[in-house]
Amino acid sequence: MSFLAERVKNIRPSPTLAMLGRAKELKKKGEPVLDFSIGEPDFDTPQNIKDAAAKAMKEGFTKYTDPRGILELREAIAGKLCKENHVDTEAENIVVSHGAKHALFNVFAALCEKGDEVIIPAPYWVSFSEMAKLCQATPVILHSKGLKFSAEELRQKVSGKTKLLVLNYPNNPSGVIYSRNELKKIAEVAVENNFFVISDEIYEKFIYTGETYTSLASLGDEISRLAITVNGVSKTYAMTGWRIGYLCARKEITDAINATQGNASGNPNSIAQKAALEAITGPQDSVKKMVAEFAKRREIISKGLSGLNGFECEKPMGAFYAFPSVANCFGAKAGSSSKLASFLLEELKIAAVPGSDFGKEGFMRFSFATSTDTIAQGIERLKKHFG
Ligand SMILES: Cc1ncc(COP(=O)(O)O)c(C=O)c1O
Repeated sequence: MSFLAERVKNIRPSPTLAMLGRAKELKKKGEPVLDFSIGEPDFDTPQNIKDAAAKAMKEGFTKYTDPRGILELREAIAGKLCKENHVDTEAENIVVSHGAKHALFNVFAALCEKGDEVIIPAPYWVSFSEMAKLCQATPVILHSKGLKFSAEELRQKVSGKTKLLVLNYPNNPSGVIYSRNELKKIAEVAVENNFFVISDEIYEKFIYTGETYTSLASLGDEISRLAITVNGVSKTYAMTGWRIGYLCARKEITDAINATQGNASGNPNSIAQKAALEAITGPQDSVKKMVAEFAKRREIISKGLSGLNGFECEKPMGAFYAFPSVANCFGAKAGSSSKLASFLLEELKIAAVPGSDFGKEGFMRFSFATSTDTIAQGIERLKKHFG
């Protein structure tokens, strides 16, 4: 359509949301679909958080706030980052947005323009490349042999046009985590070449290997000036629908984003901000319980999937996705994982997302943010065909 702006013409709709939509449609028709497509905790938002929202409403906290979020919440986020993540920061370095997705988009909008290159290591979360394109930058996909990239591989992708690298660990879809040492080497490349790095830390609490989480911005002054930490309450506190995410960056960036957000959307929902404040500063036992439950599911799904012919499934280090290689079952040619996903949905009524949507052909993503019962039924169904 010629009336549409060039920048929106080749933006693809989120494939994970598309798969969820297809699964829901089939369910509506009465098909017994087992859904492994969606990346949202199947737990309810903890009661103390809901109570904080109810209190905010009762007290009339229902008006515009500071566009970058209320000071109390930004101070609580800065406090959390200092204490838990060892990121030396203050409220003026924080902007609260409508979910981490929006925080990420704000970063792309503030930093990227035509001619800029954004390095995105594969497998990657589906929205990164589309956000770069929307801001007229060129996504440069870093393909590596395994599921992790090395600083050397990164170095080879850097050019004079590199503006930004997008890191996400634990990774959606692979669950991969980068160690402190690996991150230090990645940081060195960024500092040497003076490009910014988004560190999407939304799955930081979902780690099953006992490793301690290292935030990129904690690795010294030089990288902390280039790092933009993105996080939010959606996954950690089962609050996907509340839409609160945040970013932490140096002041020039947060000032620019404050101005952009102030014009584009205004403040994130006032009531949800109070709920997020309670989530971050209140009791954390619900997080521990949820992660313990995910750890059990991780065992069941990894064991089940690796028992299938043609599937190879390592236990994910973090997040809540199993990402088996299915190359031995359908091949790793272009289009094979999406053919497999269609087959799974149409024939076995199993919704999963093809690796190609994450830039990694020959793999398939199964979210285990679903009940153990659904996981067990799904494995049984798959066994009938791939057993
Ligand atoms: C890696 C990653 N970043 C960001 C988001 C978006 O989070 P939010 O719901 O807070 O917008 C997601 C959601 O799936 C994600 O997987």
